[in-house]
Amino acid sequence: MAQISPSILSADFARLAAEAEAVTGADWLHVDVMDGHFVPNLTLGAPVVEALSKSTGIPLDCHLMIEEPDRWAPQYVEAGARSVTFHAEAAAAPVRLAREIRALGARASMALKPATPVELYEDLLPELDMLLVMTVEPGFGGQSFLDIMLPKIRRARQLMDKHGLEMWLQVDGGVSADTVEQCAEAGADVFVAGSSVYGTDDPAAAVRGLRQQAEEAAARRSAGTGGGTR
Ligand code: DX5
Ligand code: ZN
Repeated sequence: MAQISPSILSADFARLAAEAEAVTGADWLHVDVMDGHFVPNLTLGAPVVEALSKSTGIPLDCHLMIEEPDRWAPQYVEAGARSVTFHAEAAAAPVRLAREIRALGARASMALKPATPVELYEDLLPELDMLLVMTVEPGFGGQSFLDIMLPKIRRARQLMDKHGLEMWLQVDGGVSADTVEQCAEAGADVFVAGSSVYGTDDPAAAVRGLRQQAEEAAARRSAGTGGGTR
């Protein structure tokens, strides 16, 4: 089942509660936390996540683009995030951190920047509920999808299948009506979309459209008719 996680990075930060309501029907709300160090951009922190979690029924999917996630990630669970993603490149002890996030009651997820190979983390996958394969360099919304990441998405899904893992595979960056099908055919099942949702006049319709495209592509994938893109 394809899930859509609209990124509020492309929403109006002065009206976050209303912007969450604008995507009613979305599976998650993707909250990009940037610290100005791990990425060259600064967004919001745990107090805003807490306020947002109290004002929307959509579960929050927090993507931490920060240094020292080992120290800060638990705060985001306490602030109400139902899924917390830390970056592999920033975590000092990713297994311990994933276990801590799970113990606090959230889904634990790890993200890989475009240049970070998934194979390095094969043994860690069972500790995670989701792997995020970045399809742009993290830091900014509205960038072009890096289609050279498609083989990595396929390899990530193969590793999950090899180990019989039920975990989710998220893609983030440049996901739109033009690219969502390729991602789903490669094996992704959670789709973050910022500008392609909030940049339209009807964000809820954009979410429905992306989900439908993703589900059709996933059906082609399981039928083995993915157009040779596997
Ligand atoms: C980028 C963020 C993304 C961003 C995606 O570093 O992690 O979540 O909001 O925006 P679009 O969908 O516009 O590429
Ligand atoms: Zn993100």
